[in-house]
Amino acid sequence: MRAVNRLKPTKTNKDITKSGLVTSGQDGIHAHLKKTLRKHLQTPWLQPLHQPTIDVYQQLKNEAIFASGQSFILDSGCGTGKSTRLLADLYSGHIVIGVDQSLARLAKSGVKSAFSRTGNCILLRSELSTFWRLLLNDGYSPKRHCLFYPNPWPKPGHLSRRWHAHPVFPQLLCLSGEIELRCNWEIYALEFAQAVNFVSGAKVEVKKWLPESGISPFEQKYLDRGQTLYSVMVPAQITDTFRLSRLKA
Ligand SMILES: C[S@@+](CC[C@H](N)C(=O)[O-])C[C@H]1O[C@@H](n2cnc3c(N)ncnc32)[C@H](O)[C@@H]1O
Repeated sequence: MRAVNRLKPTKTNKDITKSGLVTSGQDGIHAHLKKTLRKHLQTPWLQPLHQPTIDVYQQLKNEAIFASGQSFILDSGCGTGKSTRLLADLYSGHIVIGVDQSLARLAKSGVKSAFSRTGNCILLRSELSTFWRLLLNDGYSPKRHCLFYPNPWPKPGHLSRRWHAHPVFPQLLCLSGEIELRCNWEIYALEFAQAVNFVSGAKVEVKKWLPESGISPFEQKYLDRGQTLYSVMVPAQITDTFRLSRLKA
């Protein structure tokens, strides 16, 4: 049985178990999700690439990370990079790349520059929608792609900022590899699964996720508060098939 850490009361006596719980005007899957996805599938996304991310990506290529053909794992929105380090220990035969736009978060684990490497663990300060497009353009696919606790953007008007309704979503799936989304907002997980199923014809499901300990600071925080966590696994076969169908189209 998982232990829930004892929590200190807050100064304002707020119920700390609810801290970090997403509150939203939405009580179910967004009514415009499918319409938004149809638009993204039909209209190529032409937003210019983010130059600092191009520079960091070039550094990554200079390290000959991809030249060896070694498979890699992506930890997108890695925050402090704690999960990236744990994954690097777990998958010692792979390169594990953590990407986050916030230097303040990365700095919490001692990262001082936009590119940092320790053994098979690489931490990058980059913007994800550009980073994913750069990988895709070069034909590099992660073996495993972790999306752990992305910003939920809970306001209904912010739908297209959630990854599954963002214009980059088709490219995110085309990157291929096994994708795992984890979050503490059930609606986000349900929407993510519905978006994958809608564009690919697959039948992925939302499952409850109850690990012994948190892989990342956000996961640990939610576990400490006894909150329910959700996971959506998208097998590589589904993302591969989707990529092939987009190439043929
Ligand atoms: C809620 S935090 C989760 C961090 C970490 N995965 C965890 O579980 O502790 C979301 C992270 O995504 C990052 N992020 C959000 N949008 C991003 C983007 N477009 N490019 C890069 N990082 C982004 C934020 O900076 C933040 O660190």
